[in-house]
Amino acid sequence: MDSIRITGGVPLSGTIAISGAKNAALPLMTCGLLTDERLVLSNVAKLADIATMSELLAQHGIEVTHAGRDVTLGGKITNTEAPYEIVRKMRASFLVLGPLLARLGQARVSLPGGCGIGTRPVDLHLKGLEAMGASIELDGGYVEARAPKGLKGAEIVFPFVSVGATENLLMAASLADGITVLKNAAREPEITDLAKCLIAMGAKIEGLETDTLTIHGVTSLHGAHHDILPDRIETGTYACAAAITGGDVFLENARASDLGAVLTALNEAGVIITEAENGFRVTRANGLHGVDVTTEPFPGFPTDMQAQFMALMTVADGASLITENIFENRFMHVQELSRMGAKINIQGSSAIVRGVKHLTGAPVMATDLRASFSLVLAALAAQGETTISRVYHLDRGYEAVEAKLAACGARIQRLV
Ligand code: UD1
Repeated sequence: MDSIRITGGVPLSGTIAISGAKNAALPLMTCGLLTDERLVLSNVAKLADIATMSELLAQHGIEVTHAGRDVTLGGKITNTEAPYEIVRKMRASFLVLGPLLARLGQARVSLPGGCGIGTRPVDLHLKGLEAMGASIELDGGYVEARAPKGLKGAEIVFPFVSVGATENLLMAASLADGITVLKNAAREPEITDLAKCLIAMGAKIEGLETDTLTIHGVTSLHGAHHDILPDRIETGTYACAAAITGGDVFLENARASDLGAVLTALNEAGVIITEAENGFRVTRANGLHGVDVTTEPFPGFPTDMQAQFMALMTVADGASLITENIFENRFMHVQELSRMGAKINIQGSSAIVRGVKHLTGAPVMATDLRASFSLVLAALAAQGETTISRVYHLDRGYEAVEAKLAACGARIQRLV
């Protein structure tokens, strides 16, 4: 199993090119199930999760061709079952359910696994599809969904915001009979990107960027070409890397407008963001200050940035209260950060971080995707050497981590 060794203490300096968003690419790839025609996606990052999605779609019968940063999908669905062996590796696999059901009136999809950050049920996905006329049964760890006469438009009010449920239902509703209204829908930039691609494929969707999406179902969708938006979580993560090392880094392709709450928090912490036409620069005038953040659905502070921001706060002046509102078990990085000298106390869904003068390198273990990078950040700032094991978590969602950081002067090495 690979690990990463980092010798800390180098202020990062240079340019980091931000890749296409993983969390947009995964649902966009499942759109390949909505038409037999060619769907071309550009700006697709080379990641383990993208490979997993390619494998899943291929076993459904879809031809998936990778050429540089383009992925082309096309062909007929030959199998409507998504097997446990693939779905357990990545929760986003569950997004094939809506498209398969809408297209062929049946699907058998394993219940998902994914990051160990909480129980993460899929009840909202299933209730929404039932409201659209599907019958759903659970059998041997699989969801068996049927809608032999097709899905029907419905009004669905989500009791709370779910990115995945919004995506599954948005895709299903595009091919349903009649009008679907999704209320209290997620409005993350990845949802808007998905809606834009569906519209390019012939879907009729109103209310983009709002919490109410209205979908006028159509009988078929066609091929399209869609350029995936830059990854806002990767952007925020590297902004934290520049900040924690006191460096000066230009984040190329980064879109500040997708990172409102993160940039506000960074600003309050003493980080300077200077916007340019094709990205923004991250520097720091003096030391870092403790800032409180609470994770919320977009446009609030993203849960996917919580671990990385916490790493930054471990070396800030003063205290920081970090509250996790989205997932119930997303503080697994705390123990590992503590092994490097961080002072963090957990109180229910909040963590109190008391900044220390410096962290010290240690052997640590990656526990989930974003938590892994919080350890990379801590290691970049720490005195001495840190070895992070189980970096396969990191490879799921961060492209070319060592190359991007080493190009900015980091002393980082992969041990295989
Ligand atoms: C997506 C992102 C993930 C991010 C999360 C929240 C992808 C591939 N993953 O995950 O990186 O951390 O959004 O921004 O885009 N819930 C239920 N029932 C459901 C669905 C969700 O109770 O049917 C709960 C979840 O357990 C969680 C909350 O709702 O507590 C939000 O989850 P959701 O927005 O659905 O996250 P994902 O789509 O899985």
